[in-house]
Amino acid sequence: MKKFAVFGNPIAQSLSPTIHKMFADQVGESISYEKILAPEDGFIDAANVFLAQKDAVGCNVTMPFKLDAFNLAKVDDQAAKDAQAVNTLMKGDNGDVLGYNTDGIGLVNDLLNSGVEIKGKRVLLIGAGGAARGVISPLLEAGAASLTIANRTKAKAEEVANAASNAKVQVVSLADIATVKPHIIINSTAASLNNELPCSLQDGVLDKCDVVYDMVYKNSPTRFMREAATLGVETQIDGLGMLVEQAAEAFYIWTGKRPHTKHVIEYLKKAVE
Ligand code: ATR
Repeated sequence: MKKFAVFGNPIAQSLSPTIHKMFADQVGESISYEKILAPEDGFIDAANVFLAQKDAVGCNVTMPFKLDAFNLAKVDDQAAKDAQAVNTLMKGDNGDVLGYNTDGIGLVNDLLNSGVEIKGKRVLLIGAGGAARGVISPLLEAGAASLTIANRTKAKAEEVANAASNAKVQVVSLADIATVKPHIIINSTAASLNNELPCSLQDGVLDKCDVVYDMVYKNSPTRFMREAATLGVETQIDGLGMLVEQAAEAFYIWTGKRPHTKHVIEYLKKAVE
């Protein structure tokens, strides 16, 4: 049986085993997929022990180990290089451990599945952590007209924009986001977990906006989504679909088989509610 796992700290809440077992059932693979709680300073040892098992194929990596995974792995994947973060590891043929980042493609696929057009749109990205870095190049590849980063600590947004080094990537102060007139706003911060707004949505910020996306998911719409809805934004999407889509991409890397995601997302939505 092919063995997989997800590493994180905390990890008890992870839906990844459920998602990957549903994918495996769909395509007729027999797998085991466990959650592994690694100590904060012990990811690399724990991952090496797991991957040393004969039947281990690969693993997912979540908070706070994506940078450790990037350092552990051999990284050819451009998305992982851009993000400086790895969420998917796979054993290579000659003992290498290969690193990928599927978060960005997960976000883009979830937006596209939800009927959101990215091509030609002005995207405002709130936050400048690992979650933000990982989605920049996939959004540009999907045809965004511009991608403007705003972050509480502006210097971090500037650092991320410089690393992206693409004329379409700009930085704006949180106080000036209305000047962007964004069509799509993506919240990559964890503010929603504390029921906080990552930025003000007042004073014309939403004039042209028809989609807000929150990478967080909860058992009910986040405050960011609710406020946008109240202020007239047509579409609000949470991060559950992104979670399933990044998993689908990882599953494809590991098995060469592409699972259907729609029913898995619907099932989890009900389960989370
Ligand atoms: P991740 O890897 O998940 O992106 P991170 O690297 O810790 O996590 O980054 C968290 C991001 O969310 C940062 O951009 C942070 O802003 P700062 O750079 O100013 O710290 C942002 N963030 C976290 N909580 C926030 C809040 N309550 N309001 C606005 N931004 C917040």
